[in-house]
Amino acid sequence: MKFKKQIKGLQAYQPGKTTDEVKRIYNLDKVVKLASNENPYGASPRVKAFLDNAKVNFAIYPDGYATKLRSAVSKHLNVSENQLLFGNGSDENILIVSRAILRQGLNTVMANITFGQYKHNAIVEGAEVREVPLKNGEHDLDKMYEAIDDNTAIVWICNPNNPTGTLTPSQKIKEFVEKVPSDVLIVLDEAYTEYITDETYVDSIGLIDKHPNVLIMRTFSKAYGLASFRVGYAIGSEEVISQLEPTREPFNNTVLSQEVAIIGLEDQSFIQECKMKNNAGKKQFEEYCKVRNLDFYPSHTNFILMEVKADSDLVFQGLMQRGFIVRSGNALGVPGYLRITIGTEEENTELLQKLDEVLREEGVI
Ligand SMILES: Cc1ncc(COP(=O)(O)O)c(C=O)c1O
Repeated sequence: MKFKKQIKGLQAYQPGKTTDEVKRIYNLDKVVKLASNENPYGASPRVKAFLDNAKVNFAIYPDGYATKLRSAVSKHLNVSENQLLFGNGSDENILIVSRAILRQGLNTVMANITFGQYKHNAIVEGAEVREVPLKNGEHDLDKMYEAIDDNTAIVWICNPNNPTGTLTPSQKIKEFVEKVPSDVLIVLDEAYTEYITDETYVDSIGLIDKHPNVLIMRTFSKAYGLASFRVGYAIGSEEVISQLEPTREPFNNTVLSQEVAIIGLEDQSFIQECKMKNNAGKKQFEEYCKVRNLDFYPSHTNFILMEVKADSDLVFQGLMQRGFIVRSGNALGVPGYLRITIGTEEENTELLQKLDEVLREEGVI
């Protein structure tokens, strides 16, 4: 058959073990998953109240233009409705953008290490991938600029970056955007934007008016606690959005997902509360790292990438046997580190106790 040559040997996304699998394998009653940066507090209680009584006609296709959700997000962000693209998670928006733009003969610039889906989709589309190493965990925008040539189609900036959690300063992004050629799409993937507390951070939506080649991606999967519903959105110039829309699937957000995203958006006090709790939780991890003399990246997200001074896979396994699923740095290109989602205060305390046990077993402490 005539499969694209470049997808030969390409690995499908490897999901980690589910909590049910881990319970079964290790005979545990309770397993906490702190591996995919979901919100440990779930979604706004208003979402649950809605779902308990939701009356949906399941035989009818959803609104393919997400009209009500579009209107709610447009008001929330103060952008026009046709500046928005809704995807089945930001994952799908990354796919849509790649599908619309990338092909053989073009190249795309991204950091190394960063969110894996940019590279994955670029490979599927046959584009050349140009990876620029991070500098102190931050995007090296000078080197990324140098990597751009006439065939560069997309530059990806994951801000804050996954898996380091680091923030590239708004001023540096502004300077970068000002010099990148206007026919290169600059994607700012801001999946964790709601968690940013840094005072120098400036909302990047302001860049779009002057620079129509900027596209911002955000999601309901993280702070909004709605990962299972799969809703992501991109904000861009009308010109860019209108070019992307035709490559989107017709009914890519379900009836329920559109409804719950609106409800989540309306409850901003829930988001603020989660942000504060997340900040406190992050401090638990930072304190632990300082006491145990382990390196960590300064995180602006709801996860932390921290050193374990041992084989990440072994520490990951040790935590899993004790009922905590995290992400091994080996799987993310950062051996010797773990990426851990910040949980509730109680979860963090328990996890750090278990981590102490594992690190003792490994002779680290
Ligand atoms: C940086 C980044 N972008 C995009 C995504 C995908 O999010 P979604 O659930 O909206 O597809 C994630 C999820 O981990 C992420 O970390």
